[in-house]
Amino acid sequence: MTTRPTTRAHTDGAVKSFPAPSQLATMTDLTQQEAREITEALNPLVADLFALYVKTKNFHWHLAGSHFYDYHRLFDKHADQIFAAIDILAERVRRVGGTTIRSISHIGHLQTIKDDNDDFVPAGEMIQRLMEDNAHLAKTQRAAHKVCERCRDVATEDTCLEGGTPAETSILLSSSSIKKHHRFGGCPPKFPLFIH
Ligand SMILES: [Fe+2]
Repeated sequence: MTTRPTTRAHTDGAVKSFPAPSQLATMTDLTQQEAREITEALNPLVADLFALYVKTKNFHWHLAGSHFYDYHRLFDKHADQIFAAIDILAERVRRVGGTTIRSISHIGHLQTIKDDNDDFVPAGEMIQRLMEDNAHLAKTQRAAHKVCERCRDVATEDTCLEGGTPAETSILLSSSSIKKHHRFGGCPPKFPLFIH
């Protein structure tokens, strides 16, 4: 598994995420520094969720082989969970007084999950790549959770945990898929089935 940083430089390129323009300002008892740190911890997570959403849909659309139906449905379910988590986290950023993802280029600047543009990916390999990305996402979520804890933002801590659910669920679902795949003669997984 390739090692990727859990965070990137939070310059946001040309996109300024903190503070929000006065028209978008929100009431909060957090200090400016705390609100900035939370914004900078959550926006890369939102970008990674977008990247993972597209990758999961990519795999949903480009499947082939005997597991087509199961995986096609599984990937769609994962994508829906990821998409729901995006909105929750992005709105939390707005709540603390930052601004969130503006564009595809903004996502590209912040994402730490790599895009996947391969011509063809075998089904078992798709599962492996998604599990690695989900494990990476879980790590990023834990890092964001720590920032919220340090900044006394209990509500966002809870949101991070909610946002963490899709990744953890995806890993569990993927694990059961792999077991089924293996039963049908696929390759055994070479990575942990459960991420803690
Ligand atoms: Fe579909």
